[in-house]
Amino acid sequence: SCKEHEKGSLLKFLDGLSQDGGLTSSWKDGTDCCKWEGIVCSLDGTITGILLASKSLEGPISGSLGNLTELRHLNLSHNSLSGGLPMELVSSRSIAILDISFNQLNGELHSLPSSNPAQPLQVLNISSNLFTGSFPSTIWKAMENLIALNASNNSFTGAMPTGFCKSSPSFTVLELYFNKLSGSIPLELGDCTMLTVLRAGYNLSGTLPDELFNAISLEHLAFPNNDLHGALDGACIINLRNLQTLDLGGNNFRGKIPDSIGQLKRLEMFHLDYNNMSGELPSALSNCTNLITVDLKENNFNGELGKFTGEIPQEVGQLKALLSLNLSFNHLTGQIPQSICNLANLQVLDFSNNNLTGTIPAVLSNLHFLSRFNVSNNDLEGPIPSGSQFNTFPTSSFDGNNKLCGPMIIQKCGSAEAPPASILSAKKN
Ligand SMILES: *[C@@H]1O[C@H](CO)[C@@H](O)[C@H](O)[C@H]1NC(C)=O
Ligand SMILES: *[C@@H]1O[C@H](CO)[C@@H](O)[C@H](O)[C@H]1NC(C)=O
Ligand SMILES: *[C@@H]1O[C@H](CO)[C@@H](O)[C@H](O)[C@H]1NC(C)=O
Ligand SMILES: *[C@@H]1O[C@H](CO)[C@@H](O)[C@H](O)[C@H]1NC(C)=O
Ligand SMILES: *[C@@H]1O[C@H](CO)[C@@H](O)[C@H](O)[C@H]1NC(C)=O
Ligand SMILES: *[C@@H]1O[C@H](CO)[C@@H](O)[C@H](O)[C@H]1NC(C)=O
Ligand SMILES: *[C@@H]1O[C@H](CO)[C@@H](O)[C@H](O)[C@H]1NC(C)=O
Repeated sequence: SCKEHEKGSLLKFLDGLSQDGGLTSSWKDGTDCCKWEGIVCSLDGTITGILLASKSLEGPISGSLGNLTELRHLNLSHNSLSGGLPMELVSSRSIAILDISFNQLNGELHSLPSSNPAQPLQVLNISSNLFTGSFPSTIWKAMENLIALNASNNSFTGAMPTGFCKSSPSFTVLELYFNKLSGSIPLELGDCTMLTVLRAGYNLSGTLPDELFNAISLEHLAFPNNDLHGALDGACIINLRNLQTLDLGGNNFRGKIPDSIGQLKRLEMFHLDYNNMSGELPSALSNCTNLITVDLKENNFNGELGKFTGEIPQEVGQLKALLSLNLSFNHLTGQIPQSICNLANLQVLDFSNNNLTGTIPAVLSNLHFLSRFNVSNNDLEGPIPSGSQFNTFPTSSFDGNNKLCGPMIIQKCGSAEAPPASILSAKKN
């Protein structure tokens, strides 16, 4: 059964809470604390885990938990805990997994004494709290075993932390989304050859450093809504052959999408919306056959949309996973390619605010899952496809300069062309 002094540390934690979510009914002095709710012990009765996610706990986290010398796993996520992160936990000689995400913890992270020996910490999730201040550079030096740091959704300021990859060779996940970080992307990230997830926003500036493309294990690379600029280097980007997510939306990137994008065969999500990209859409994009979302809206792309598919229409049909295609607010010309109808899973199709001409291919009525559709503000003409899903789209989806006709907007039918048969028969009645 559990050790008396360890039970004391747990009771001290419980006493400190202002709201224990009913924990007292299980955590009773005089009973074996290894049997208490959320407590995991080793065979000899030493506490190794405290798993109390989503238990409606409120109040501060007592530093007494740092006295549990074999505690490896502490998960207090999704509660309403407040106050600071006790230094005893960060500098614990046993904790490998520390997840305190989704609470209201605040204050700054303190640096560890430089004499601190190597830390066992592997996973640190402090995301979705109210932490402030900058990342103390010394904190990472001792963390030789760190694999994942998730600090998203706080109010951290200052530069992106670096140095993990030299000190922790297995470093894999760095999430810094939704903070107030500033400065440029550190070149040292290129040392992180095991890094698979890198997400950071929202105030970074500068360019994507060439060194970053040495992090060849990257699967998810996201720097949305920063102030990054420069061109996308085609020779660099093909180093990241494992990329599944590339999100550079809401920046100031310019130039063309490099043809080498077609070599990122695993790409599922490609976001370059709200940038200053220009030129034609590379037909090579149709080689990325695992794409699920492509978001290129609000740029300066031009050229014929038909070219995106025109040269290799059979390949575009291979983008079978595509769920969403938004190319609105560009300068695309030419016709809507027939081959779009091969994208059988497509739910969102937005070509609005371009200069497209010709008709909407009737075969688009085969896109049975289409739930959002917009071709407004183009120069399209002729009938709206007859599929029943087209009856559910608002008139505004077809408005603008277009001269489209269909059951809901008969008045816009070009007089030169015969109205479609469905309308003729409606008139006869
Ligand atoms: C940790 O344990 C020591 C010795 O039992 C005790 O003096 C100290 O107050 C404890 N620390 C906390 C934060 O409870
Ligand atoms: C902590 O618990 C939550 C809820 O069960 C879970 O989603 C999360 O993955 C856990 N954290 C870690 C690091 O295992
Ligand atoms: C916190 O982050 C870690 C590491 O990325 C992850 O394993 C864990 O599931 C996250 N916790 C929650 C509640 O999402
Ligand atoms: C990091 O935390 C955020 C928000 O708290 C969560 O949405 C995300 O899934 C986490 N990332 C990982 C890799 O666990
Ligand atoms: C950010 O944190 C707040 C507070 O914990 C939470 O309600 C919100 O869902 C989080 N946002 C994201 C994107 O994870
Ligand atoms: C966008 O790029 C063009 C050149 O392609 C340049 O003239 C223009 O100033 C840029 N716009 C912004 C907002 O940077
Ligand atoms: C496509 O992008 C535009 C422009 O930002 C946005 O307003 C619109 O809601 C998006 N379309 C769809 C169908 O999501």
